[in-house]
Amino acid sequence: MTALSVSTSSAASLRADALVIGVAKGPKGIVLAPGAEAVNEAFDGKLAEVLGTLGATGAEGETVKVPSPAGLKAAFVLAVGLGETADAGYGLEALRRAAGVAARVLAGTKKAALALPAESAEEVEAVALGGLLGSYAFGTYKGNGNGKEPVGELLVLTARKGSKDAKAAVERAVVIGEEMNRARDLVNTAPNDLNPKSFAAIAQAAGKEHGLKVEVLDEKALTKGGYGGLLGVGGGSANPPRLVKLAYTHPKAKVSLAFVGKGITYDSGGISLKPAGHNETMKCDMAGAAAVFAAVVAAKRLGLAVNVTAWLALAENMPSGSATRPGDVLRMYGGKTVEVLNTDAEGRLVLADAIVRAGEENPDVIVDVATLTGAMVLALGNRTFGVMSNNDELRDSLHTIAGEAGEQSWPMPLPADLRKGMTESTIADLSNMGERMGGGLVAGLFLKEFVTEGTDWAHIDIAGPAFHEGAPYGYTPKGGTATSVRTLIRYAEKTAENGKA
Ligand code: BES
Ligand code: MN
Ligand code: ZN
Repeated sequence: MTALSVSTSSAASLRADALVIGVAKGPKGIVLAPGAEAVNEAFDGKLAEVLGTLGATGAEGETVKVPSPAGLKAAFVLAVGLGETADAGYGLEALRRAAGVAARVLAGTKKAALALPAESAEEVEAVALGGLLGSYAFGTYKGNGNGKEPVGELLVLTARKGSKDAKAAVERAVVIGEEMNRARDLVNTAPNDLNPKSFAAIAQAAGKEHGLKVEVLDEKALTKGGYGGLLGVGGGSANPPRLVKLAYTHPKAKVSLAFVGKGITYDSGGISLKPAGHNETMKCDMAGAAAVFAAVVAAKRLGLAVNVTAWLALAENMPSGSATRPGDVLRMYGGKTVEVLNTDAEGRLVLADAIVRAGEENPDVIVDVATLTGAMVLALGNRTFGVMSNNDELRDSLHTIAGEAGEQSWPMPLPADLRKGMTESTIADLSNMGERMGGGLVAGLFLKEFVTEGTDWAHIDIAGPAFHEGAPYGYTPKGGTATSVRTLIRYAEKTAENGKA
């Protein structure tokens, strides 16, 4: 992993392969962003002109390289576009993205200094986090993705005097970046290597390393406990299901949060098999479990004064002679019965068990995260997750918090009229299918049935942003994105600060 540190040295005197500066699109052409001053001096104040001649416009994501003049110790200058100039300063997400682009472009180099706007501690953190996320490469199977090693070392340059809080900001970024990259690794791991059992073992090892309490229910324990959802979904697979609990407690905590993650390590659809074209990326169906796992480890590493329990509902959805059939009735944990009309609507079944189990411990809030429905992808696209809740205030605050953390989300309703379709089974309490229209909301309403009366609960459907198939952009690579991790961490952090959920 790329090493990251903060430095107050002048950009001019730094020995590095590259010096990264920011440029923006002003009303009258290209503008240098704060942080570029010393570099501009080395260019006799003509850096903007030079970059303009080379075609730079300052557009977001654009990169232009220039060899260094005599006054700089770095080999070359990399100008990264920040988009439109902003009077109120560049947004933190623009800084994350610019640093991410730079780190990506600089793969193959040993050392780079980021001379981007980094005056406040928040800006330092954003630059550091963007750099770490942008230098991510998944090398388990292919050495290193594009044939180049990630940049070896990143220095975040800041003019901030008394660099103590800048250092703390970088340390925070390292925790969040490493945990997001952990979630990305899990999502990217091939489903023949990541199954419920191996995922549980990884959680156990991480729990040991970071001092979290971990409990794993295997298929025997799940049978004994009556976890019909997990067993029904996992029944067709040679890899049996698991329910993993990771608990972080803080002695001064006033609030307990439960984060529940959908962990389908592969979603073939089961007997309601997905057609070709719809199953190639279904290793990503455990991205919710990866997100809550990363978030609880981050909460511990950051020492947040809040209790966080992560529940990973792990199963592999496969067709076989032992698989659940459309028409089967499952008795879920807690006793409700569900007629399975479509085995591809499996996420809600494993989540139902985990939500009931999580609720038994009386948390103040339950937040589940799941790659739950294609309908949510149709509604919100590939970069925005949907937030639903039985409490409008909680839903709106998660949406706000996501925005603060730099994640795109949108509040979605749980219209009571959509519930009816799921309750029309003639033989069971519920069916796992309801009205086709509004499928993302129907899934949310199904989950709501399993939340204990009086408990605040929110549901985050990350089916769109969990797995990125297009070209990399900003700090987002192809494959697993770690979407929602920053939102969960920030939510836990705010809860700790406020002493209430
Ligand atoms: N894992 C899928 C949802 C999904 C779709 C995730 C696209 C990521 C990208 C989920 O289990 C599923 O198959 N949902 C069905 C539900 C339907 C059968 C009610 C869907 O959305 O089509
Ligand atoms: Mn499915
Ligand atoms: Zn699924």
